[in-house]
Amino acid sequence: MHPVRSFLSFASLTATLAAISLSLAQTSDAIDASTTKVDYVIVGAGPAGYVVAETLSRNASVTVTVLEAGLDGRNDHNMDVPADLIFVSTPTYLWEYNSQPDPNLGGIAPNLWQGRALGGGSAVNAMTYCRGSESVFDQWAHTSGNSGLQWSNILNDFKATTHYINQPADYQQTVNTNVYGDGPVEVSRASMIDLMDRPFAMAYEQSFGLKEVDQTDGEGVGVDLGLSTIRVSNRTRSYAANTYGYILANRNNVQVLPNSWVQKIGFAGKTAQNVTYINTVSNKVTTLAGEQIILAGGAINTPQLLMLSGVGNATTLNSVKIPVVRDIPAVGQNLWDHHFSVVVVQATSNVDTFYQMFQNATTAAQFQTEYLKDYSGPLGNVFGTEWATYRLNDSVFNGINGKHYTSLPQDRPHILAKIGAFPAYGMPNVSTMSAWATLAQPEASGYITIGSSSYTDAPLIHSNYYGSAADKAAISAAYKQLRSIFESAPLKPYEMQEVFPGSSVTSDADVWKAIQQSASSFHHPVGTCAIGSVVDSRWRIKGLKNIRIVDSSTIPYLPTCHTQASVYAVAHVAAQNILEHDAAGSKPGSYRREDSESMHSS
Ligand SMILES: Cc1cc2nc3c(=O)[nH]c(=O)nc-3n(C[C@H](O)[C@H](O)[C@H](O)COP(=O)(O)OP(=O)(O)OC[C@H]3O[C@@H](n4cnc5c(N)ncnc54)[C@H](O)[C@@H]3O)c2cc1C
Ligand SMILES: *[C@@H]1O[C@H](CO)[C@@H](O)[C@H](O)[C@H]1NC(C)=O
Ligand SMILES: *[C@@H]1O[C@H](CO)[C@@H](O)[C@H](O)[C@H]1NC(C)=O
Ligand SMILES: *[C@@H]1O[C@H](CO)[C@@H](O)[C@H](O)[C@H]1NC(C)=O
Ligand SMILES: *[C@@H]1O[C@H](CO)[C@@H](O)[C@H](O)[C@H]1NC(C)=O
Ligand SMILES: *[C@@H]1O[C@H](CO)[C@@H](O)[C@H](O)[C@H]1NC(C)=O
Ligand SMILES: *[C@@H]1O[C@H](CO)[C@@H](O)[C@H](O)[C@H]1NC(C)=O
Ligand SMILES: *[C@@H]1O[C@H](CO)[C@@H](O)[C@H](O)[C@H]1NC(C)=O
Repeated sequence: MHPVRSFLSFASLTATLAAISLSLAQTSDAIDASTTKVDYVIVGAGPAGYVVAETLSRNASVTVTVLEAGLDGRNDHNMDVPADLIFVSTPTYLWEYNSQPDPNLGGIAPNLWQGRALGGGSAVNAMTYCRGSESVFDQWAHTSGNSGLQWSNILNDFKATTHYINQPADYQQTVNTNVYGDGPVEVSRASMIDLMDRPFAMAYEQSFGLKEVDQTDGEGVGVDLGLSTIRVSNRTRSYAANTYGYILANRNNVQVLPNSWVQKIGFAGKTAQNVTYINTVSNKVTTLAGEQIILAGGAINTPQLLMLSGVGNATTLNSVKIPVVRDIPAVGQNLWDHHFSVVVVQATSNVDTFYQMFQNATTAAQFQTEYLKDYSGPLGNVFGTEWATYRLNDSVFNGINGKHYTSLPQDRPHILAKIGAFPAYGMPNVSTMSAWATLAQPEASGYITIGSSSYTDAPLIHSNYYGSAADKAAISAAYKQLRSIFESAPLKPYEMQEVFPGSSVTSDADVWKAIQQSASSFHHPVGTCAIGSVVDSRWRIKGLKNIRIVDSSTIPYLPTCHTQASVYAVAHVAAQNILEHDAAGSKPGSYRREDSESMHSS
C-alpha cells in the first residue's frame, strides 16, 4: 500500500501517465501593476476574491486590483475536462501543505492542499455544489451579528452567484430549480450516473431510513444524487476564473494579476496602507497602495499572511521576531475542516472508475473519443457525485462528556458518507472505488500558526482531526457502518471485495488504526479568521483600519456539506455590505452603527 496521498491526490501518478500530455498554462501576466494607489487591493483570486472584485468594480470610477500568487490555468485543457481534475491536482496549481503529524492519528500528517491559480480552489476542486442545512446559516448570522448570513437572506446570494441548467440524462433526480438565479457560475447534474451510485444511495436510504433530497434548498439530511459546477453545453468546469474572470476582463477599472505573491501588508500604525508582492516569473518586487485592502487568500493563507505582517498572537510573533502591529490571538485559531476515513473496494470492469478511464488502455481510448466527439461519457463527470448525510443514534455518545452531537439542531447530519470511483487511499493497480465517512459537523477544531518570518515557509497546520472523544466515537461508528453497507441488500450482489482495510481487519484496535491511517482532509477548511471574532460584522479586522477579510477564513463554522457554494454566497453578502458601508462613509456626517461597534470591540 502506498503512503496516504489523500482525496484526489494523484500527483505521483501523473508522471507515470506519459501518454496523457499535460499542457501546462503559459504564464500570462503582461501588465505589471503600476505603483499608483488603487481603491481596493484584493489578495487572492479564489471564489471569494473574484466575487468581491466583480461587485466593487461595477462602479466604473472605482479601481480594483486582484493579486494572485498562482498561474492562469484557463488555457489548460485539463482544467476544463471534469475527470481530468486529477491532472490539475499537481504542484503547478496547489499549495501542497501537509498538516503537522497529528497525535490523534498516531503521527500521520494528512495533506491540506489548497488551490493556487486564478480561481483558487474552484480551479482544482471536485466541483460538487452543495449548500447544506439551513440552520447552519442562521447560526453564522447569530454568532456574527450579520443578519445577511441567515438562510432566508443568504438564499438570495446563493441565487445571485449561480444559475441552473438542466442536463438531459436517462436517470431521475430530485432537483429544486427554484433556488437558482442568473448568476455567473453554472450548476448542473451529471450527464450519466455511475453504475454504483444508485445502489450505494439505496443502501443508505434503506439502512438509515433516508429519502432523496436536494441539499441546495436548505435540506441537510438525506441522500443527494449531487450537483456540480459543470457547464452543460460542453461538459467543462465552471469556476471563478472562467465566469467572474471573463466579466472582469471587459472592465477597464479592474486588473487581475496572476503570478503575484503577496509577502506582506504594510501598516502605518494600525492603518493598512499597501501590500508588497513578488512576481514569481520575473522576481520583481512591487508595493501597491490601496485605500482598502481586502484579504481573500483562503482559510490557510489569510491567517498566515496576517501573522507575517504582524497581526496575530503577540507571543508567537515575538518568537519569530516579527514586530507586532496588533495582538489578535484568534488569528489562525478555530480551524474547522471536514475530514474522513476511507474504505477501498474492488470494482468490476463495467464500472467507470479512474482505473478504467486512465489505466485500462482499451476503455481509456474509448472514453477520450466519446468526450471529444460530443462531450459524452464519464470524462464529463466527476467519478460519482452522490452522497448520504445522516444522524447517528444518540446512544453512540453514551458515556461521553459533552452534548455537541446530541444537541445539534435536528436538520443537521453528523456524518456524510460518499462513494467515488477512484482510489482515495493508496494506488492499487486494479479497478477500485473508494467510500468514505466524514464528520459533517465535528466537535474539535485545529489551528494554524507560523514557524518563521519567511513568507516562503509553509504555515504550521495543526489539523486536530478526530480531536475529541465524541469525534472519535462518531467516526468509529460511521466507519463500521460504511464497511457493512457493502453487505446490505442493494450492494451485496456486486460482491465488491474490500481492498482497504481488508477482511483481516476486525478488532476495534485494528479498525481504529485503519481510521487513523486513511484520515484525510476534504479540503474544506474554514474559520481561521471568523466573522464575529477576528473580523467585525462588516468584515473589518477588529482594531485595525482599512483592512477587511472576505473568504473561507471568515466562515465561522462548517456547513453540513461541501464549501464552495457557501464561499461564493458569503463573499456576495460581504461585497454588498462593503458597498453599502463605503458608500455611506463617503457622505460626511453619516452615522454608522457598526463603526462604534468596531471601536468598542477592539
Ligand atoms: C482539492 C480540493 C477539492 C475540493 N473539492 C470541493 C468540492 O468538490 N466542492 C466544494 O464545494 N468545495 C470543494 N473544495 C473547497 C473549495 O474549493 C473552497 O472552499 C473554496 O475554493 C475556498 O474559496 P476561497 O476564495 O476562500 O479560497 P481559495 O479558493 O483557496 O482561494 C484563495 C486564493 O488566494 C491565493 N493566495 C493565497 N495567498 C496568497 C498570497 N499571499 N498572495 C497572492 N495570492 C494568494 C491562492 O493562491 C488562491 O488562489 C475543494 C478544495 C480543494 C483544494
Ligand atoms: C462610484 O464611485 C464613486 C467614487 O468612489 C462615488 O463617488 C460614486 O458615488 C459611486 N457611484 C455609485 C452609483 O455608487
Ligand atoms: C465551453 O463553453 C463555454 C460557453 O459557451 C465557452 O466559453 C468555453 O470556451 C467552452 N470551453 C471549451 C473548452 O470548449
Ligand atoms: C508601505 O506602507 C508602509 C506603512 O505605511 C510604509 O512604511 C512603506 O514605506 C510603504 N511602502 C511603499 C513602497 O510605499
Ligand atoms: C498565544 O500563543 C502562546 C504560545 O503558543 C500561547 O501560550 C497563548 O495561550 C496564546 N495566547 C492566547 C491569548 O491565545
Ligand atoms: C479493460 O476494460 C475492458 C472493458 O470493460 C475489460 O474487458 C477489461 O477486462 C479491462 N482490463 C483490465 C486489465 O481490467
Ligand atoms: C438507538 O440506540 C438504542 C439504545 O442502544 C437502541 O435501543 C435503538 O434501537 C437504537 N436505534 C437505532 C435506530 O438504531
Ligand atoms: C499494472 O498492471 C498491468 C497489467 O496487469 C501491468 O502491465 C502494469 O505494468 C502494472 N502497472 C503498474 C504501475 O504496476
